Amino acid sequence: SWTMLNIVEDSVTAVRRQVGDGHAICALSGGVDSAVAAAIVQRAIGDRLTCVFVDHGLLRKGEAEQVERDFVAATGVKLRVVDAADRFLKALEGVSDPEEKRKIIGREFIRVFEDEQRAIMADRPVEFLVQGTLYPDVVESGGGTGTANIKSHHNVGGLPDDLRFKLVEPLRALFKDEVRRAGEELGLPAAMVWRQPFPGPGLAIRIVGEVTRERLSLLREADAIAREELSRAGLDRQIWQCPVVLLADVRSVGVQGDGRTYGHPVVLRPVTSEDAMTADWARVPYDVLSRISTRITNEVPEVNRVVLDVTSKPPGTIEWE
Ligand code: XMP
Repeated sequence: SWTMLNIVEDSVTAVRRQVGDGHAICALSGGVDSAVAAAIVQRAIGDRLTCVFVDHGLLRKGEAEQVERDFVAATGVKLRVVDAADRFLKALEGVSDPEEKRKIIGREFIRVFEDEQRAIMADRPVEFLVQGTLYPDVVESGGGTGTANIKSHHNVGGLPDDLRFKLVEPLRALFKDEVRRAGEELGLPAAMVWRQPFPGPGLAIRIVGEVTRERLSLLREADAIAREELSRAGLDRQIWQCPVVLLADVRSVGVQGDGRTYGHPVVLRPVTSEDAMTADWARVPYDVLSRISTRITNEVPEVNRVVLDVTSKPPGTIEWE
């Protein structure tokens, strides 16, 4: 729309003015906020922006490719990809406690990002750090400006606040729906622009129990099936998000062909919500649930049971961890 075009152009101009002929870096998470922020800054300063994508191996099926291939194709952004899956998995070995998982993932993220930052700065000085801070984040954190003022407890992208970067926050005045429209205006991949909320620590907090490569890969398959069927049923905009949770330490008896199985359950957690503070379980039509269940148990051999979470928030949270 005309106004959206203006918003994008105005923020491109503002970034150009702020950064001058300086250099900037930006961490991409796979989510819409960092993607739109990076795309705006790229328009403003071109390849004086370097994006860093730390692939922690905890994303869902297709999400890393979306960043590495589709986002780069759409924007021409200069991107450094770090395949850090081994490192994150090693650090998570033996850990089941949810908060411990978050702490480890946040810590490793910062370490990897700082290594990249050092490598980039070996070539040239970088004064600016781009962040996808939205207006609601600004309000929530008290409206301060100029320093790394972010919800580090909630975002894997949380960086230590002693970084001496000047922040570039092109989305500071925008709400989520405006960010999505700006993303469309900028020609970003639809799957990124319309991605439902997904936690920074990723699938690690959707495996109840220890995180292993095998568990991640089966959860990734189950999640992809659920997302595909919900989309196909046209429910993406009605459902706030639908975590698929692997109960990795639970087994139950089942039967398949002429054999007894002893597999894991996955939980479907479709919710409706306005802002994630409260939520209700989504009344997904039975035939859609049935297709999801049939496909998951057929296509993911380790999973022999699909269960539905019918708890509102409160008392439940949206995620299981
Ligand atoms: P809960 O489970 O607290 O989730 O009802 C509320 C919203 O926050 C997301 N969430 C997270 N996002 N890092 C994030 O970036 C996290 O550690 C985290 N934990 C929960 C969750 O997906 C939901 O949208």
